[in-house]
Amino acid sequence: MESVIPLHGHNLLKLLLFLTILHHVPHSTTSLDLLPKEALPTKSGYLEVNSTTGSALFYTYYEAQKPTTPLSQTPLLIWLQGGPGCSSMLGNFYELGPWLVTSNVSVKHNPGAWNRIFGVLFIDNPIGTGFSIAASPQEIPRNQHDVAKHLFIAIKKFIKLDDMFKTRPIYVTGESYAGKYVPALGYYILKKNAILPVSSRVNLAGVAIGNGLTDPATQTATYAVNAYYSGFINDKQKKILENLQKKAKLSHVVVLNAGHLVPADQPLNSQAMIEDWVLDRGLFAD
Ligand SMILES: *[C@@H]1O[C@H](CO)[C@@H](O)[C@H](O)[C@H]1NC(C)=O
Ligand SMILES: *[C@@H]1O[C@H](CO)[C@@H](O)[C@H](O)[C@H]1NC(C)=O
Repeated sequence: MESVIPLHGHNLLKLLLFLTILHHVPHSTTSLDLLPKEALPTKSGYLEVNSTTGSALFYTYYEAQKPTTPLSQTPLLIWLQGGPGCSSMLGNFYELGPWLVTSNVSVKHNPGAWNRIFGVLFIDNPIGTGFSIAASPQEIPRNQHDVAKHLFIAIKKFIKLDDMFKTRPIYVTGESYAGKYVPALGYYILKKNAILPVSSRVNLAGVAIGNGLTDPATQTATYAVNAYYSGFINDKQKKILENLQKKAKLSHVVVLNAGHLVPADQPLNSQAMIEDWVLDRGLFAD
């Protein structure tokens, strides 16, 4: 389904190599040479989603580098990778995290990092993905309701880790197959918040999806009209796209230079866009 499997495959191998090296090197100067101290996440670990089975979601959290508000009010972004089954460490180390893995398996600073002025929480979702633990294959969610249920438990546990997290507005973001997780989680949070006391709610402020695979059958049949009525393409381009649409029966139409991994293709633009969106500026101004 993905148009960038070679890129993903290649990046995945590099990431696995990188993580394997990290895993095997004890905390010594050697590991610090590979991953400078400032590249370590603010927090990382496991958020248990089932106390009976021990299944848990793995996370890494990076606090805002240059927050413009007190941390207790600084927006907190959650990033969910697609797949299904892709580790959010792909987004962390190849797209929007503060430190990117290079081709020679070192790290370099990312000027387009999404944690410039917001906190960013990467979660390996669902259980069984990346470093997340599924106690049994049967427990791995088969539907979006169960995905959202686990994420909700995990987010509430995360918020409890620090008093400062309680009051922060939370934005759920993701790309590709997370086009299913993001709305499912947003919906679940709203439903739960309605029946929970204020102190137990998740302070959801917004959801954002990049190139989401929310409902492919509908999406692929409507690219042309969507792009046209959003003002992105003209009459001639609309006709071309409609013709392509007819040929692409399965899942997607490839539009030249419209990258699948926008935060990696255009890091500074993606950073500016997410900041404008959260802060109601630019394109997103009222
Ligand atoms: C935890 O696991 C048990 C045993 O598989 C199951 O009955 C229960 O529904 C699970 N709870 C959640 C929150 O998924
Ligand atoms: C690794 O690559 C980066 C650029 O991507 C370069 O700056 C750095 O010197 C390289 N490190 C080594 C050990 O080759």
